[in-house]
Parts: sequence; structure tokens; C-alpha cells
Amino acid sequence: MKQNIAPAEGKLGILIPGLGAVGTTMIAGVIAVNKGLSQPVGALTQMGNIRLGKRTENRYPLIKDFVPLANLTDIVFGGWDVYADNVFEAAVNAKVLEPMLLHAVKPELEAIKPMKAVFDREYIKNLDGTHIKEGKSKYDLAEQVINDIEQFKKDNNCSRVVIVWCGSTEKYIETSAVHETIEAFEAGLHNNDPAIAPSMIYAYAALKLGVPFANGAPNLTVDIPALESLAKQTQTPIAGKDFKTGQTLMKTVLAPGLHARALGIKGWFSTNILGNRDGLVLDDPDNFKTKEVSKLSVLEDILQPEINPALYGDLYHKVRINYYPPHGDNKESWDNIDIFGWLGYSMQIKINFLCRDSILAAPIVLDLALFMDLAKRSNMSGIQEWLSFYFKSPQTLPGLRPEHDIFKQLIKLQNTLRHIMGEDLITHLGLDYYQDVVEAL
Ligand SMILES: NC(=O)c1ccc[n+]([C@@H]2O[C@H](COP(=O)([O-])OP(=O)(O)OC[C@H]3O[C@@H](n4cnc5c(N)ncnc54)[C@H](O)[C@@H]3O)[C@@H](O)[C@H]2O)c1
Repeated sequence: MKQNIAPAEGKLGILIPGLGAVGTTMIAGVIAVNKGLSQPVGALTQMGNIRLGKRTENRYPLIKDFVPLANLTDIVFGGWDVYADNVFEAAVNAKVLEPMLLHAVKPELEAIKPMKAVFDREYIKNLDGTHIKEGKSKYDLAEQVINDIEQFKKDNNCSRVVIVWCGSTEKYIETSAVHETIEAFEAGLHNNDPAIAPSMIYAYAALKLGVPFANGAPNLTVDIPALESLAKQTQTPIAGKDFKTGQTLMKTVLAPGLHARALGIKGWFSTNILGNRDGLVLDDPDNFKTKEVSKLSVLEDILQPEINPALYGDLYHKVRINYYPPHGDNKESWDNIDIFGWLGYSMQIKINFLCRDSILAAPIVLDLALFMDLAKRSNMSGIQEWLSFYFKSPQTLPGLRPEHDIFKQLIKLQNTLRHIMGEDLITHLGLDYYQDVVEAL
């Protein structure tokens, strides 16, 4: 049965904490698409199709024609940053997009100026921005963010707002007592508890207002029981963590394939060089630790060595990120994979991916913003596991294993869309109609 989905009427505000390489590449891209200058390649919501019904029915609409998503022309952008540069200046500094394209959308980008950030160098040592809020306590800062969101919504005549964290990776924090309940968290905001990072303050503000919040970095942010409870209480969708691009995207494409054929894996060594500001932040060991934990979880969950020790019990998995300024945003990754086959004979696979980090991440930000808005209008609250497809380290309920296999993630995403639209779920069994086709031949 089709669910009751509120229509996507009026303007959708997309607010981004962290208007750096990824955020500005997404904003400039959407404006360029709206001007007919480019295509939104990589955005499933814009260019992806979905199969409906039996294979014999040949129904493959575009996802945007199947589910009621906000139109790209109905989006307004805003955000926060620790640097006061407008989005045009920040995009020029990020050096991701060609000057020709940026100049074609210059007036629109110049008009987007970041609001002052909630920031503390304690969590990101390698940044020195001064465009930051002052407050008596973390609670006071959260109230300022709440005002920012409400003011933005009013000034831009938005009917809805969503937030996607595109800020830098914060230092590694483990969950502790202050993250357990809403009460403990609010007390921690008042007492300036050091385990409450700036990203959590934005998330808290969003959830208090019922504004969906997705986290593109590996920081804990909304992945703590207190904020999960708040999301449920205020009926707000949340999702995270860490956009799945580049090397991890390749890993979650390839590992399920090797696993599917019962091929063994002895070792997987992954290294990266990148020279953007993200790379600079990750050059600090405390911040790299957050990323490392996120990147390492992928293989174990796909291969499940404890279920199949003969094939994966000895797997050695190592991930490195090296800051190398000459490459800028053009991240280069190398993977060496030691696999073994029939009778234990060894083989090797080498991958050298010369990618563009923000070009891979920008469509994810757009898809997440549109799907989180759809979730909100469809009364889906709490963790949106069906959006695991977009994350390196998908947020799940405690005790549940995250699904990392990109193909299973895609099936889940598509079946969720079919489900809310009242279409049959697709199991790929096909037995119910296969014989009819054979007989008709
Ligand atoms: N590009 C990718 O492929 C990719 C993949 C996965 C995750 N990510 C994550 O996405 C995030 C953004 O990446 P990027 O390449 O755009 O980095 P970036 O350094 O270009 O941009 C991050 C921006 O966040 C700002 N910032 C930091 N702390 C802030 C705060 N508390 N409030 C507001 N702004 C703040 C910084 O000043 C900077 O402008 C990073 O955390 C990165 O790890 C990126």
C-alpha cells in the first residue's frame, strides 16, 4: 500500500556545516545543472532508473519520476564555515571545478555567505579559521545554531530544511556516558563536556527543530544513543557516517564479488595520497584515527572471517592516508590485494584509482539531502539504514551489523522506495513468471 507522503511543495533549504571542497562542488554543480550547463552525473536521484514489477513488464522509470522528490530548481543553499569566504571564493580555493564553470555561476555562489561556525581547535588542530561563534556554553552555541536555522528558513521562504555535515573530520572520540541519554547530553552541553564535539552541537540543534541531519564525515556526531533518542522523539530522520567515495567505493564493489565466488583473501593494503584541506586535517594522527576506524570496518563486515576462517581468517587489512599537496583534490589510491583460489594458489590484484574526491562526493550530498527530505515527508524517523548505500560506516542500531556490500545496499534502497510507493518488492526470484515466459516462447 502506498504510504502517505506529503508533497514536496515550496522551497527546500539545504544547509551545510563546512562549505569546503565537497560542499561548494555540490552547490556549484546544482546551480550549473539548473542553468543547463552540466549534467548531475553520479546522482542516483537525478540520473538513476528503478525497475518496477516483473522483468517482463519493462518498467524502468527514472527515480525522480517515480518518487516525489524536491526539484533542483526549488533548492536554496546555505551553511556555516570557520572561514568567512563566500561560496565562490571557497570553490576557487578548493580548485576542484574549472574557472570557466565557476564564473558561469559566480553571482549565485557569491550570494551564499557562510554563517559563523561552532568550532573549537581542540577537535581539529590543523584549521585556524576565525569566523566562529562565541558562547557562554555549548548549550548557548546550540541555541545560536537553532536561531540560524530558523532565520535561514524565514529569510529564504523555505517550507523545509535538511542538513548534511560536510565539515572537516574531527578528532577521534569514543562514546561515553554523556552520549547515552538526552538528559546526560543536555547536561553535558551546559557543562561544556569535552566529549561533545562541535558537529554534535549542530546535530542537536537540527534534531530539536525536526530537521533531518546526515553526516558525511566519520565523526560520531548523530551516531550516539542520545541523539538517536532525540531523533525518534522529534520524528526526524538521521543518517551517517562518512561518504562512500574513492577507495572504499571500489572496496565495497570488489570484495562482495570475490566473496561471492568463495575466493580467499590474505591481505588488502590500501594507501592514498591527497593534497586538499581534508588531507591536511587528516595529517593529524587524532583526526586520521577517526577516518581509519571508519575505513577499516568495511572488509570485516563483508567477508565475516568468523563465519569463514579458511578463506578470510588470516586477512591483514591496512589503510594509510598521506598528505601530498601537489595532488590537491585529485586523490590517488593504490590497493594491493593478495587473494588465493583453487587449492590455495595465490594471485594478486592491483588497483590504481586516480579519482577526484569531491566530484565523487558531491552527488552523494545531493542524493542524501533529497532522500532525507523524502524520508521526513514520509514520516520515517530515526536511523535511515536504507541510505547505507552512501556511507563508508553506515549507522545502525546498536547490536546490528552494518551492511557494507554495495549491491545489497542498493537493493535495500530501491526496495524502500518501492515500499513507500506501494509497488511490489523485488526479490529477483522470478519463479512466479519464469515458466509463463518459457511457455510463450
Ligand atoms: N571528498 C570525499 O570523497 C569525502 C569522502 C568521505 C568523507 N569526506 C568528508 O567530508 C568532509 C568534507 O571534505 P572536504 O574535502 O570538503 O574538506 P574541506 O576541508 O575542503 O572542507 C571542510 C570545511 O569544513 C570547515 N569546517 C571545519 N569544522 C567546521 C565546523 N565546526 N563548522 C563549520 N565548518 C567547519 C572547514 O573550514 C572547511 O572549509 C570531510 O570530513 C571529509 O573527511 C569526504
